[in-house]
Amino acid sequence: MFKTRMTEMFGIEYPIMLAGMNWITEPKLVSAVCNAGGLGILATARCTPQETRENIRQIRGMTDKPFGINQILVGPGARENIEIAIEEKVPFINYSLGKPWFVDDVHAYGGKVIGTIAIARHASRAVQLGCDALVVTGHEAAAHGAAATSMVLIPLVARMVDVPLIAAGGFYDGRGLAAALALGADGISMGSRFMLTQESMVHDNFKQLCLQATEQDTLYDNVFDGMDGRVLKTKEAEGMTKRGFPLVDSIKGALLVKKLFKMSFLKFVGLSFEMMRAEEGHPLLVLARQAVGNMKHMKALNEGDVEEGILFAGQCCGGINDIPSVQGLIDRIIEEAESTLERVNALKG
Ligand SMILES: Cc1cc2nc3c(=O)[nH]c(=O)nc-3n(C[C@H](O)[C@H](O)[C@H](O)COP(=O)(O)O)c2cc1C
Repeated sequence: MFKTRMTEMFGIEYPIMLAGMNWITEPKLVSAVCNAGGLGILATARCTPQETRENIRQIRGMTDKPFGINQILVGPGARENIEIAIEEKVPFINYSLGKPWFVDDVHAYGGKVIGTIAIARHASRAVQLGCDALVVTGHEAAAHGAAATSMVLIPLVARMVDVPLIAAGGFYDGRGLAAALALGADGISMGSRFMLTQESMVHDNFKQLCLQATEQDTLYDNVFDGMDGRVLKTKEAEGMTKRGFPLVDSIKGALLVKKLFKMSFLKFVGLSFEMMRAEEGHPLLVLARQAVGNMKHMKALNEGDVEEGILFAGQCCGGINDIPSVQGLIDRIIEEAESTLERVNALKG
């Protein structure tokens, strides 16, 4: 059993979180993690406000345990999705890539805000802004880690702030959980590992590619969705790192995003300007690259297209060899973390 600031704050049995993963963290996976004693997070970046509400209600129909949503604050629909989550009084709001304007509104109904950071100095700022807990993402992670690895980042942040820390990036087993606790975190968040479970919607072609991957088989670049991020090494991902700016694909992708989010032309242009003014100065190019990344992810996840699809994936795929149920996975990780800590403890003279 583990009792940490994370299990206490979120009222969960085990210090394990399902990382918010756009497209992948559907209600089935989120509720499976909650019911197995972890913290399930629904990523809403792909959702219209209506879909966000429906997904939240579906989760409530599948579990009576607490859960959260994750929203990337750059890109379409962020403001609207956060508003819906607040209306629905979702217990935990996890955000990434931006500055939270909604902290007081979440605290007003007793909810908690979990910031996501990948650069140490952003940790103090997030806490000053009112975050109750932080996800600390290392370079090993799928998608948007920054330069520092989990090994360096977690102890640094643990010294800087006094809120529960959830370590992300490279965690996939019980030894990783034990290591995260030793480094000063209160639990772990796993993306790639939960992607490879029976309840995950990822197309089997890509599950198999991830299983075959070694720790060397990912690429880290800003071409995949405009921001530095890590994907599985596939033919298309390698091609993207060699090609110039994908103008035609960007236009196609931008129009697809406009359609998916049912945006008027004016709203679409407005959003583009808003992104140019975003906190970290994300230019319009990011929106275009994001649109292309979206299209290629949907090809991977839904169609299993190994020629044209790409998939965010972490270095830890190299250590993942099976596709267990969520319950089986969480039980195994907890058992392994306990035996690891016992083994390490027994080394004391
Ligand atoms: C397919 C995919 C989609 C993701 N989408 C999001 C997202 O919408 N929001 C977010 O904050 N992080 C997103 N991430 C990053 C994860 O939340 C998490 O930080 C990462 O998976 C942790 O690294 P790991 O894969 O080594 O466990 C995504 C990751 C993957 C694999």
